[in-house]
Amino acid sequence: MTSALENPALLSLAAGFTDNGSLPAEEVRHGVANLTAQGADPEALQYGLNQGRLELRRMLGARLAAQEQGLDAETLSAQMLVTNGSQQALYLAIQVLCNPGDIVLVDRPSYFVFLEMLNGLGVRPVSLPTASDGALDLVALRPWLRRLRGSPDAARVKALYFVSYFSNPSGRSMSESEKIALGDSLRSEGWHLPVLEDAAYRELYYQAPWPARSVLALDAWDQFPRFYLSTLTKSFATGLKVGFGVCTDAGWRDRMLHVKGHHDFGTSNFAQAVVEHALRDGSFVRQLTRVRALYLKKMRALHETLLNEGLASLGWRWRAPSGGLYLWLEAPGGLDTGMDSAFCRACVEGGVLFVPGDLCFGDDAPRNFLRLSFGVLRVDDLREAGRRFVAVARRFR
Ligand SMILES: Cc1ncc(COP(=O)(O)O)c(C=O)c1O
Repeated sequence: MTSALENPALLSLAAGFTDNGSLPAEEVRHGVANLTAQGADPEALQYGLNQGRLELRRMLGARLAAQEQGLDAETLSAQMLVTNGSQQALYLAIQVLCNPGDIVLVDRPSYFVFLEMLNGLGVRPVSLPTASDGALDLVALRPWLRRLRGSPDAARVKALYFVSYFSNPSGRSMSESEKIALGDSLRSEGWHLPVLEDAAYRELYYQAPWPARSVLALDAWDQFPRFYLSTLTKSFATGLKVGFGVCTDAGWRDRMLHVKGHHDFGTSNFAQAVVEHALRDGSFVRQLTRVRALYLKKMRALHETLLNEGLASLGWRWRAPSGGLYLWLEAPGGLDTGMDSAFCRACVEGGVLFVPGDLCFGDDAPRNFLRLSFGVLRVDDLREAGRRFVAVARRFR
């Protein structure tokens, strides 16, 4: 990957970054000028609270409560911790819940950096039963949970994790009924597990928010310790690395805050203040409106290039997502698109890079999926990358 990236002619559909040209430089400049204006209190340049800025938590709590019926903004902000991106929230959660040898149940496919983190901590991901499109197999789920309950692994299962809105890597969102059925099945099979709902891309819908409520608001999840996490990186500025999580369980939350204290005793107070300023003066929402339209345009550029170049007629399958940064492609059966495959090497030689899908499965990874990201490249480059990709796929038909 590294040597491939050193080739400047290579077009990367691999990195899950956002678009440099769309970053909110003006909004941040304005925020920084106000925060450091002559005579203004420079408190943002001082250490802040381990849990995160009070006003930022209030605004994020209010924003979330406005998205979901039945949530109380004040409770959300009290239960919230602001983190160094949601990546840190994920790490804190697993660090305090799991020991080496433990198991975390995961969606399938799942966020591969999270899976890598589990491996790094000696924790084993085990996939929930799912259909090939990533939807939970609700018929198989209960008997599967029952069998797991009776197996020697049962005592090692410490948490459940899933990405529920415009997922990385699949672009798929969970329906509310699917989320309710998952909670009901766990409860009826006697699993009282801490649950991590990763909503990193929730705000990055193109035209309409995904209508499902989160585990924070659904009755089916009431009895579970819940950690809902999201981020302002993808929706505002990745470089500021401000994310957050809302944890309903006081003991779990306190232990995470304790460990966060060891990490950094608080996410950069200045970065938080910049985001807080953008939320307050409306530039956060204006930026979101801009990037939603931009990512729709970019998604269409890549999706339509793949279609027009004839990829579907070569037996490849994918869906145009309604939010997020990714296309998730299924290659025709038998074609290996995995990490060290001839197809992968041919794409690098052909000047285009992707994320092999086998990285995105907790276990039993099929080798005919891959992820294309349209976050970074400009529209013209996306079209060219799509053409290069289909040219390689044609050689491997
Ligand atoms: C599903 C998912 N969760 C969490 C993260 C972490 O992002 P950040 O630390 O920028 O909030 C990412 C980043 O790509 C992601 O794709």
